Amino acid sequence: MKITLDYNNVMTNYVGRYGVKESDIAALNPQINAAAAAMKSKRAIMAWRDLPYNQAEAVKGIKAYVDGIKDSIDAFVVLGIGGSALGPMAVQQAINNPYYNELPRNRRGGFPKFYVADNVDPEKLAYLFTVIEPEKSLFNVITKSGSTSETMSQFMIIKELLENRLGKSAKEHIVCTTDSEKGNLIKIAKREGYKTFYIPSAIGGRFSELTPVGLLPAAFCGIDIESLLKGAAVMDEICSVDSIEKNPAYMFAILNYIALNQGKNISVMMPYADSLKYMADWFAQLWAESLGKRYDVNGNEVWVGQTPVKSLGVTDQHSQVQLYTEGPSDKIIVFISVEQYRETITIPRLYSDIPGLGFLGGVTQNQLIQTELMATEYALLKSGKPNMTITLPEVNENTVGQLLYFFEIATAFAGELLQVNAFDQPGVEEGKNAAYAMFGRPGYEEKKRELDARPAKNEKYII
Ligand code: PA5
Repeated sequence: MKITLDYNNVMTNYVGRYGVKESDIAALNPQINAAAAAMKSKRAIMAWRDLPYNQAEAVKGIKAYVDGIKDSIDAFVVLGIGGSALGPMAVQQAINNPYYNELPRNRRGGFPKFYVADNVDPEKLAYLFTVIEPEKSLFNVITKSGSTSETMSQFMIIKELLENRLGKSAKEHIVCTTDSEKGNLIKIAKREGYKTFYIPSAIGGRFSELTPVGLLPAAFCGIDIESLLKGAAVMDEICSVDSIEKNPAYMFAILNYIALNQGKNISVMMPYADSLKYMADWFAQLWAESLGKRYDVNGNEVWVGQTPVKSLGVTDQHSQVQLYTEGPSDKIIVFISVEQYRETITIPRLYSDIPGLGFLGGVTQNQLIQTELMATEYALLKSGKPNMTITLPEVNENTVGQLLYFFEIATAFAGELLQVNAFDQPGVEEGKNAAYAMFGRPGYEEKKRELDARPAKNEKYII
């Protein structure tokens, strides 16, 4: 059960002049070969590549912990942001019933409800406490750096609330996922005795979904985390070949790279399944933060990157597709299709006397969504807009594991083609540091001076 990439509609012989020619790909051979060689030689430092194979101990620990605690809690709440939240959300939404939290407990397999508090919006956090009882909840503080203000502030609020209500047993309601040595959270966890799972030190936030960052929340939602890892291993094998004709992740990266060089600064991801909507969110962070870089690896100023846009089929056919079809040729569209949905619904044979409705009778919603995808592909093709389709035979732990790993490899490979460091995020750090400075955090005095020296806003431009 393998996912596939169909890129016919990117090629000029199908899509016309805004597409990619075989000769465009051939012309890139030196860069492609260098990137493929780098993927091999850097494998040891891309520690996330080994996650499909080296998480057995972590999985054992996670399963034992989940078994021991799940019956005593009603809600599992992730406190994290960016790479420490998007993956857990994407996997839970992909695998579980979309109305998971509304289901009776026995129809959730006996597992607790699942929430993610990623933003620091005071309304959202306050309202969370209108639907959960903190005394019956487990809070999973996830932060690789152990110091992200958003996450640590959520942690501080919840720790105090729990301690006020539960005293010493408050600590049973907090579980940390963080680096084993660096950052404030590990120091606090050790001092205060919180149960802790570790993120391997060489793995950064957005590449950490297959560590306890993603595995622990998934296990608390009844998701088969071993199948998730097996799926990633399947994709690792597929994407370990150098031949780009056989390596879908490399080809995905190459086509996006060529498209970017042709001025297609936007890569739209449009899954035709609500379950995969958050996968597009997760991918957006991966693609944007990894490839959007001011400097290349040689220190030259390059200002590169491709803007990922999240879209949903068929919903956004009624919102965005007009632009994708007839707007500027600045995009490449990536559809995600599903061969076999987990449910089938047949439209009843009503209104056979009204031709405009009768044709729907007896058709399944499955056929309708798949046909609409095909029709949208065709509309784009007809107007010369390159598009490709990733197909999942069905959405399950294995195929989701494949998809996660596929995008990670594609991103790393695109980083090699662009000659940027796909694993840092200096632009994000700049914002984090500016916020620390504004709050007077010790050590950020110079940054505060820099901020204070910025030009004052002119009232003239505020109306
Ligand atoms: O990919 C990344 O490194 C970032 O998006 C981080 O995940 C995000 O900033 C949160 O960082 P942390 O996990 O250290 O709290």
